[in-house]
Amino acid sequence: MDLGLAGKTVIVTGGGANIGRGITFAFVKEGSNVVVADIDEEQGQKVAKEAEALGGKVIAIKTDVTDYDSVEAMVNKTLEMFGSIDVLVNNVGWVANKLFMKKPREEYEKEIKINYLGVVNCTRAVLDHMTERKAGRIVNIASDSGRVGEPREAVYSGTKGAVIAFGKTIAKEMGRFGITVNAICPGATIPEKAGTAGKESMWAGDITVEMIPPETKERIISQYPLGRMGKPEDVANAALFLASDVANFITGQTLSVSGGFSMI
Ligand SMILES: NC(=O)c1ccc[n+]([C@@H]2O[C@H](COP(=O)([O-])OP(=O)(O)OC[C@H]3O[C@@H](n4cnc5c(N)ncnc54)[C@H](O)[C@@H]3O)[C@@H](O)[C@H]2O)c1
Repeated sequence: MDLGLAGKTVIVTGGGANIGRGITFAFVKEGSNVVVADIDEEQGQKVAKEAEALGGKVIAIKTDVTDYDSVEAMVNKTLEMFGSIDVLVNNVGWVANKLFMKKPREEYEKEIKINYLGVVNCTRAVLDHMTERKAGRIVNIASDSGRVGEPREAVYSGTKGAVIAFGKTIAKEMGRFGITVNAICPGATIPEKAGTAGKESMWAGDITVEMIPPETKERIISQYPLGRMGKPEDVANAALFLASDVANFITGQTLSVSGGFSMI
C-alpha cells in the first residue's frame, strides 16, 4: 500500500534512541525526509548516518524540546533545508520510576518539562506553517500509563494524560486547517540492541531486554496478552499509519500499541 509519505518532511523529536530511532528508520524507508531533533547531538548524528544508509535524506539538528528558542531554530532550519514540514512526531519522553512519595522535586519537574512542555513547544512551533499550508500531521507518543495510570510513574502518567488531552484539543481547533493530531500509547518497549541509547535516554547505561532478570521479564510479559514486550517498529508502524494519506479522516484519537496491556 502506498502511504503517500515519499518526499514528505518529518520531524522526529528524540529520534536519537530506541522508539524515535525506529520511527526515523521507518519514515526513511517510506522515502520521507527526516529531521532527527534530539538534545544528544552525537546520538542524533549517529542515527542520521545509519538512516541515510537506507537511502534517505536525514539530518540531525540539536534541539532541546523544553526550550522554545531551540525548537523554533530547529523548525526554521528544517524549512530552510526541506521547504516544508508535513509531519511532526512528538516522541521525546523521560521517566525515572519511583513511588511518588519518594520522588525528588527536580525529577518530577524534569518529567513535566520534557514530556508536556516539550510537546506544547514543538506543536506551537510548527502550527503557523501547517495552518498556512492547510495541511499537517501531528503524532504524539504518549503512553498507556496516561490512559490507565501506572504505579511508580505518577507524574509521568499525568504528563502523558495531558499530552492526550492537549492533542485532542489541538485536533478540534486545527481540523479546519486540514491538520490531524493523534496519540500513540506504547507499552514497555525496551531497547533490544546494546549501544543504541545515548546519555539522555531513559535507558542510558544500555539497559536492554537481555539485561532484565528472567523473573521480571516474565512478570512484565504476563500483563501483555500478546505475550511479548513492544519493539520500536511496532510503534513506528502505527506512526506511519497515522501520518499517512490512508488516515486522513482520523483525528483526536488515541491508539494503544501495547499488545493488549490496556484495552479501552
Ligand atoms: N520505552 C517504553 O517502554 C515506553 C513506553 C511507553 C511510552 N514511551 C514513550 O515513547 C517515547 C520514546 O521512548 P524511548 O524509550 O524511545 O525514550 P528514550 O529515552 O530511549 O529516547 C528519548 C530520546 O529523546 C532525547 N531527549 C531527551 N531529552 C530531550 C530534550 N529535552 N530535547 C530533545 N531530545 C531529548 C534523548 O537524547 C533520546 O535520544 C517517550 O515519549 C516515552 O515516554 C516509551
